[in-house]
Amino acid sequence: MATGIDIQNVFHFEPFTNVPILDLALADKPETKPVFISWLRYALLNTGNWYLVGHGVDDQLLGTVKELATKVFDLPANEENRLDESNSPHFWGLTRVGRGTTEGKRDYREDFDLGNDLPCQWKEGDPLYVKTRPGPNLWPSKEFLPDFKKTYQVFIAEMTKLGDKIEGLIEEALELPKGTFAAYKDENVKAGGRVKIARYPPLDKLQSEGEEGPKFGVGPHKDLWLTFTLPANEHAGQEVANPAGSWIPCPPLSGMSSFVVHIGSALESISRGSIVATPHRAMNPASGTSHFTVYYLHEISPHVTFADLDKGAEGLNQELVATAKARRRWWILRNSLGKSKLQNLISAAKRTAEASSDSGEPLVHRHSGVLLI
Ligand SMILES: [Fe+2]
Repeated sequence: MATGIDIQNVFHFEPFTNVPILDLALADKPETKPVFISWLRYALLNTGNWYLVGHGVDDQLLGTVKELATKVFDLPANEENRLDESNSPHFWGLTRVGRGTTEGKRDYREDFDLGNDLPCQWKEGDPLYVKTRPGPNLWPSKEFLPDFKKTYQVFIAEMTKLGDKIEGLIEEALELPKGTFAAYKDENVKAGGRVKIARYPPLDKLQSEGEEGPKFGVGPHKDLWLTFTLPANEHAGQEVANPAGSWIPCPPLSGMSSFVVHIGSALESISRGSIVATPHRAMNPASGTSHFTVYYLHEISPHVTFADLDKGAEGLNQELVATAKARRRWWILRNSLGKSKLQNLISAAKRTAEASSDSGEPLVHRHSGVLLI
């Protein structure tokens, strides 16, 4: 098969110690696009995450998004109660400290979840997961945060365009047929992904309150498809695991507008393990003020099954797959994917059982973002 991929040399043996920085502006010019594609291929096959700069999302918009992210957790008690996630059948809104979990373990964070504001399409007899999205958001009142709704609507629209662009470039980097990923989209996810705003309180506050247990803002996990992480204040709480099991910090880049992009489990599946979904976590500050992070989760349809992903994988360069398998056996063994999926399954099933007795359908576990069957 004719290929532009130097298959024998594209895999690196040493566990990565730095998260690569990719400049998306390179992809906009024909003469520099091949450079971007080769860096993207390196990141896909060896690290599973990267800083994205030159992304084209307006700095002023991102500034407002960050500012509002810190304010949404500082509303009057009545408004907080109105925005409580228990008031939304779509799991939008505010999740209080200690209610979020990863792989069954309690995390130390507070979330505000929202997405594209479409009507719910669930009807009697549909699987429960149809209820999870789309559905109307719980928007903070204009009285308290007048710019929140319009700012986050524009943010979702911009991030959706960015996610679509990265998907197209991933297809090119893997030499997948153009449009391979389009088969996994429905009209709802095409309209926009999800946003999770997280607040990570300082650990000394937890200790002073006499609590025990949670040690992470978000425990080690993998996402579903493509996640864009935007720190809303300057902190170094985000970490990714390298194949040797070491945690590599990815603090905000000084003086540069950047996201950290994570590859998720479904993308790993469609590549038959050629590309890497890297476990990652978020650490709380030891003391001082809370950390705030905005996540944009670019998605695929919740109806997608692993059999569908397998079909897309047929377009892959099989020499690439075989080489990845031969060289990455040690990675797979270290990360115990089966155990991780089982734990997520239990966690998601518990959450689902709380809402309904429906089961047995493909399900996106909305907090860990892991695709389950
Ligand atoms: Fe994540």
